[in-house]
Amino acid sequence: MMKGSKANVVEAIGNTPIVKLNSLAKDSICDIYVKLEFMNPGGSTKDRIGAYMLDQAVIDGDLKPGGTIIEGTSGNTGVGLAMWAAVHKYKCIFVLADKQSQEKIDNLRAFGAKVVVCPTNVEPDDPRSYYSVSKRLAQTIPNSFYVNQYDNLHNRNTHYTWTAPEMFEQTQGDFDVFMAGVGTGGTITGCGKYFKEKMPNVEIVGIDCEGSIIAHYKKTGEICEAKSYVLEGVGEDFIPENYDFDVIDDFEVVGDKESFLMTRRLLKEEGIYAGGSAGAAICGALKYAAKQTKKKKILILLHDSGNRYASKIYNDDWMSDNGYLDSSFNVQIKDVLNDIGKKSDLHTITDSATIGEAINIMDSKGISQLPVLNSQEEIVGLVTEKNLVKPVLMGEFQKDDNISLAFSNKYRVVDKNLLLESVGEALLQKEVALITDNGKLTDILTEIDVLQYFSKKGHV
Ligand SMILES: Cc1ncc(COP(=O)(O)O)c(C=O)c1O
Repeated sequence: MMKGSKANVVEAIGNTPIVKLNSLAKDSICDIYVKLEFMNPGGSTKDRIGAYMLDQAVIDGDLKPGGTIIEGTSGNTGVGLAMWAAVHKYKCIFVLADKQSQEKIDNLRAFGAKVVVCPTNVEPDDPRSYYSVSKRLAQTIPNSFYVNQYDNLHNRNTHYTWTAPEMFEQTQGDFDVFMAGVGTGGTITGCGKYFKEKMPNVEIVGIDCEGSIIAHYKKTGEICEAKSYVLEGVGEDFIPENYDFDVIDDFEVVGDKESFLMTRRLLKEEGIYAGGSAGAAICGALKYAAKQTKKKKILILLHDSGNRYASKIYNDDWMSDNGYLDSSFNVQIKDVLNDIGKKSDLHTITDSATIGEAINIMDSKGISQLPVLNSQEEIVGLVTEKNLVKPVLMGEFQKDDNISLAFSNKYRVVDKNLLLESVGEALLQKEVALITDNGKLTDILTEIDVLQYFSKKGHV
């Protein structure tokens, strides 16, 4: 063995750093520190439970040579298990819910694992759910081991015997509150139990998401109906065995949107490239901090890396298509038109007109686009200067040809009560935004109108 090297990649798990948040917590009464678990070789804290649970399964005789490892996983645990399996030469099958990001699915397949994708919005006991499918595969595939991170108590034991002692040693117990996003409950319970034994006054606070049943169960003892949410890894629709609510003092509950926006701020303002549950945890920590009257040191475990969310949280189109981007586009189109004082000197042409007539109107009015209306005054097309030039030059169109030969399809019809963001993409695609009021065309919104609006509002 070379000095200073590890025997294999599994041995490289752990010893992740803890860093202070300098920008996001600057207005908070509390100091916030984050443990960067995405610095594990597989990109998440789940590397630890993957290795630990499988080592234990071998010790307990549950996983035998040549066996197949089966797990229902949101991706991170799959990577942890697949990494261990690659080193120790086992096969893997993973069962995922279809809301999981494509990166996670591709990543597991790249490890050589088989991936089965199941519908998200079915009850856990539905035969199509990923819990049911995982169990069924384990029953039907010979020499297989169903890891079951939800009910396998070696999940929380991983954090009790490894992650928490590591953090305690790093900090010498110099923190008042420990927080983590909750899913299987392994992280919060394992760490919570260890810290409570070492530090009698420590507070353990879980971060749950809106739609999950976990925080509600802790507060009321009741199982409520779960609702769907988009955050990955956080929240559950049942109570896994790994929970011990006695070691969890409280919960903060956060929503998808605030969590995603915070995840992006974490990268922009702190340079930390983490996943959505990290943003959720920081939102939760800031909510908790806002209720405190004295300064506390909060330590948060950030579960996974941002690169698993490149096509989602870190993709502007995905964020805006799903309504998560807070932007200056959050204004109604009619207000934009009012604010810039746009006069509605709209020119149109009827669908019985000729190309020559259209060119005459465009020329005499100095306009480059002309909506075409039928006899009921409905929009049936658009003629643009750009789309006439080539066919006219090439002799393809004659001036007596009907206007319908020259229609452009690069336009979008949008009601003036809608938000400006609904035409943002159209303008970026160089489409013409035709604005209607009760179905009647009232205006054309151009790029220059939008720029004028932002400039007036001081955004540029
Ligand atoms: C990204 C992410 N965050 C948070 C969690 C929650 O951790 P735990 O399952 O230990 O409660 C998970 C678990 O799957 C996760 O993948």
